[in-house]
Amino acid sequence: MDRTEKLLHLLEAKYRKKTRKSFAFYRQAQKVMVKGGSHSLRLWRPYPFIMSEAHGPYVYDVDGNSYIDYWQGHYANILGHNPKVLKKELNRFDPECGSLHTGFEGESQIRLAELLMKQIGHKDYKVRFTTSGTLATMYAVMLAQAYTGRELILKIGGGWHGASPYLLKGVKFDKEKGFTQAESAGVPDEILRNILITRFNDPEDLIKIISKKGERIACFILEPFLGVGGFLAASKEYLALARSLTAKLGIVLIFDEIISGFRFCPSGVHKLYGIEPDLATFGKLIGGGHAVSAVAGRTEILDGTKHKTPLKARVLFEGGTFSAHPQYMRAGYSMLKYLVEHSSVVYPKLGRSGDILRKKIEDVFKREGIDAVCTGRGNEVVRGSSLYMVNFPLKKVATPSADNIWNPALSDIPLREELLKLALLTEGVHVVHGGGAISAAHKDSHLEETVAAYAAAARLFKKHLFS
Ligand SMILES: Cc1ncc(COP(=O)(O)O)c(C=O)c1O
Repeated sequence: MDRTEKLLHLLEAKYRKKTRKSFAFYRQAQKVMVKGGSHSLRLWRPYPFIMSEAHGPYVYDVDGNSYIDYWQGHYANILGHNPKVLKKELNRFDPECGSLHTGFEGESQIRLAELLMKQIGHKDYKVRFTTSGTLATMYAVMLAQAYTGRELILKIGGGWHGASPYLLKGVKFDKEKGFTQAESAGVPDEILRNILITRFNDPEDLIKIISKKGERIACFILEPFLGVGGFLAASKEYLALARSLTAKLGIVLIFDEIISGFRFCPSGVHKLYGIEPDLATFGKLIGGGHAVSAVAGRTEILDGTKHKTPLKARVLFEGGTFSAHPQYMRAGYSMLKYLVEHSSVVYPKLGRSGDILRKKIEDVFKREGIDAVCTGRGNEVVRGSSLYMVNFPLKKVATPSADNIWNPALSDIPLREELLKLALLTEGVHVVHGGGAISAAHKDSHLEETVAAYAAAARLFKKHLFS
């Protein structure tokens, strides 16, 4: 057994000791659910704790443990778990939303749509709601294909846009193939062949691929602040280039703002860049803790007024039993309204918390002689950021990129994904990919406790792996 495996066993034993009840539940879960649950990131090794409740920065398990949580509902809970402002609103009786789903058009969705459109602030823009980020990006791609009459989809290596067949390529890094492989069985080769991959923040690569294939490309979909690919802000020049090249060649530019929307400012992060995409997808926090996502964009693309495809072949962005559920719409509206009204307090606080955490985490590892680099920082456009990911570079690189953060030859991925995760869980902190999203409910005292947990992990790593 090598040193990494030994430490993993030691940490697992410690974790098992504090989560015995959770384990019993997990065994029960395994009997009836595939792998014992419904989402891979919630099913970590050796098994997940079973949540009992969550408030503010904390999540509690059935064993009575508490954890300061940086996963925060897949980054949706920007105000922390179950924030009072949303609970209060949802507990207030409202005849439209106080009932279960009805399947009619209601006022609450008009209010959310109006607020969203006002905050996005582009002319001739409209929105349509659906229920997941996966659906929103899938519809955006289909709209682009129908609008342009083209089939090729250009996406970023390391970019995750959900599990629709159109985007299931080049998400995970492969030692031999880099970011070029299919992510899932069951996607026809014909669809996979249509997905092209380019490197984030790499203007030359973008110019190369667009000059070669631009006239056949329907859309370029990217996150202006790359999410799972490494929490990296796009450079201003890169987004400007993406805009000008796509406009020149009639390619639909889609900004996937499912993580970045309302995370950095009370709108899409693209507003800070001053660059208008043709379509933008939103999700996560726009539902105030509920399943809401949206495709916003130029009316002629969403309405289908100038589509190249014949009328009967138009995009069927029409269904969704639970689309615009009144309760979800009301929660989303309350969340966005709160963020708009408190933006001058919330966003600077989040940015400050991000700066503190990233710097202090790097410091505690440095103190033990371990090189740790926190990504998630803003840039000259995105002034503050509440996202962070801890990376352990194996080789010095000039700038962190998805290609080096997820390349096992350049980055110690097991140290981040498995050992750090477990070490922090034993210290009462829950992270994903070494970090996550800070919420407005995380006070300085929580950040201090978090730093102490990282410091304990750093000491452990030094003792067992680096001495
Ligand atoms: C940028 C981005 N797009 C799309 C999705 C898919 O969203 P959902 O999980 O709601 O389907 C995610 C999910 O994490 C995401 O991060």
